[in-house]
Amino acid sequence: MEEWRRNVRRGLSLLALVVLLVGHFPGCKSPPAKEIRIGLITPLSGDVKTFGESVKNAFEVAVEEANAKGGVAGMKIATFLVDDKNDPTEASNAANFLINQHGVKAIVGSVTSKTTIPVSDLAQSLRIPTITGTATNPKVTVADGKRKEYMFRACYTDSFQGTVMAKFARGTLNATTAAVLYDASNDYSKGIAEVFRDAFVRMGGRVTAYESYGKDDVDFSALLTKVKAAKPDVLFLPDYYNKVGLIAKQAKETGFPGALIGPDGWDSPELVKVAGDAIEGGYFSNHYSPEDTRPEVGNWVKKYKERFQQTPDALGTLAYDATNMLLEAIRKASSADPGKIRDALASLSGFEGVTGKFTMDEHGDPIKSAVIIQIKDGKQKFLQVVNP
Ligand code: PHE
Repeated sequence: MEEWRRNVRRGLSLLALVVLLVGHFPGCKSPPAKEIRIGLITPLSGDVKTFGESVKNAFEVAVEEANAKGGVAGMKIATFLVDDKNDPTEASNAANFLINQHGVKAIVGSVTSKTTIPVSDLAQSLRIPTITGTATNPKVTVADGKRKEYMFRACYTDSFQGTVMAKFARGTLNATTAAVLYDASNDYSKGIAEVFRDAFVRMGGRVTAYESYGKDDVDFSALLTKVKAAKPDVLFLPDYYNKVGLIAKQAKETGFPGALIGPDGWDSPELVKVAGDAIEGGYFSNHYSPEDTRPEVGNWVKKYKERFQQTPDALGTLAYDATNMLLEAIRKASSADPGKIRDALASLSGFEGVTGKFTMDEHGDPIKSAVIIQIKDGKQKFLQVVNP
């Protein structure tokens, strides 16, 4: 009995020692070289799962490339990943967890605007530099007219994107009337709907229907009947691929004859799977096209395809740029100090990414062009570039 107790006690203290060692040197049997911890917040489940997967893939490629070259500023990069399920509360918990439990010095994420806005507020109050590749809503980097100094992004904003699509509808499609359907509970959807409406009216067009739905709605027939009666030339759908797919399908069933147009949220191979041919001929604004002939794009597409057997979407491509921007800032700061990394990020200029060469403006938003894509034969076809 005594012997048994002693063994248990010995076992327990051995366990405690192992826990202690693991705590100090995560994932390593011997003490590691210097490391810097960075976190990734991305939706790996929920309604925009394809977004999260692309972002995770691209983040991993960028980090592996840097580690293969010996890390940054003499430090290996250790990564910690959390799935936010595209839910704002989960996203904010994820940021808290990464910063307070894992001690990350910087974060890449999150992916959509509604989850990135709470993450950016936390990053700002805890002073952890954070960069999103993809969240386009203006509130990501600014709150009540004040810049969140610790927050950055690698994409243009919805003020630009919404205007681009209004201009495209008026100028290229010669639309004189437009209808808008948006999700009133989603900052991204609501924000871009307003920008599009105001820009379209400013350009001399008329908005004949402007209607909202809720986040869990699946039946849009009543709204679409109203839209059809308003006889718009185009219907603007600022939402993500799953919702857009459903609405497009029902619009076709209602016999809506106009063109469907939208923003970057359409970018997923799932869109055509959900909508079928109801989305055929539709147009949306995006951040890059794999058909771009610049060598940076060609190299990236080749590398990504070899590894993941698919063409990288804009989300993965922006996440690759965002991660590389952060790594470049750590290199420039030559330090794991969050304040120094922040300053280096703010002063990045002429950064050469896959999505273009760009410089941060005073809000931490890069100045860069958009591309317009058309869905043709069920595939994304590059149409034109629009400069700011
Ligand atoms: N811009 C979207 C948002 O802010 C996310 C997104 C980016 C979706 C790029 C598709 C492509 O929520």
